[in-house]
Amino acid sequence: MKNKTNLIQLSFENTTAHLFKKHIFDGKILLIKDSKEILNIIKLTEQYFNYLFNTRITNSDKLKINYNKENSIFFQIIQNRIKFCKLIRKCFTNFLLQIELDFQSTFMDYITFRYSPASGMKNIGTLIPTPAHRDTWASNIFNQINFWFPTHNVSNRNSIFFVPKYFQKSVSNNSDEWSFYRYKKTKEFLSTPVSNIKFPQNQIVSFNVKKGEVLCFSGHHIHGSLVGDSDRLNLETRIVCDNDEKTYKIPVNLDAMGTVRKNKWFRNLKTGKSYI
Ligand SMILES: [Fe+2]
Repeated sequence: MKNKTNLIQLSFENTTAHLFKKHIFDGKILLIKDSKEILNIIKLTEQYFNYLFNTRITNSDKLKINYNKENSIFFQIIQNRIKFCKLIRKCFTNFLLQIELDFQSTFMDYITFRYSPASGMKNIGTLIPTPAHRDTWASNIFNQINFWFPTHNVSNRNSIFFVPKYFQKSVSNNSDEWSFYRYKKTKEFLSTPVSNIKFPQNQIVSFNVKKGEVLCFSGHHIHGSLVGDSDRLNLETRIVCDNDEKTYKIPVNLDAMGTVRKNKWFRNLKTGKSYI
């Protein structure tokens, strides 16, 4: 099923790796529904969150986590728990297998956790709401595929936005100044290069996403965080696959000015070795 805003809804029954990648590299945004593996990841995340904050993450309206030193430390702890949780990584690997991606040729980044507080609240944590960007401005790998899923139902005013028209148009950005090293070393430095272009409102699209659903899209898509009336929690990661650069017509570099491919961010699902 396809709607007028570029979104294609997929279920495991009608998905193959080839179809999935073809759509992704064509610039389609995919919504994969009904994933038990994703629900398992959310359950584990909820257990970590509940233990530290003594509150449930499924009801984000009532979260209202205050910015303070103790909560900042809790966010650092939960980020690391999720990043290094073997069970979460295993569940996500199973999800990738369900869309027929294979172990041997797939390389995955860490799974990370992003907290987007309601509009007007102070940001907290290492991954905060991000303005418009392409992930490829940071990674310089153009066959990168992104996965984004909330831990609770989110409306199209509180999820992420895309500007599909710019999939094939150059966008000014600060990728010539950005470095991963500076992001890691400098507080408040953003996790990715960004654009300060004001995109026309009628060219921006966003979607309702239910708990258990996953948005999948090319790392070359212009996208960013929406900040709504209530808090939002989501998980995200990205993958690259061997041979996709040869097999598919992948996006070409229009405007990334970095020179270093971040191959080391991605580790093989079977061997753990870095992407080359
Ligand atoms: Fe991103």
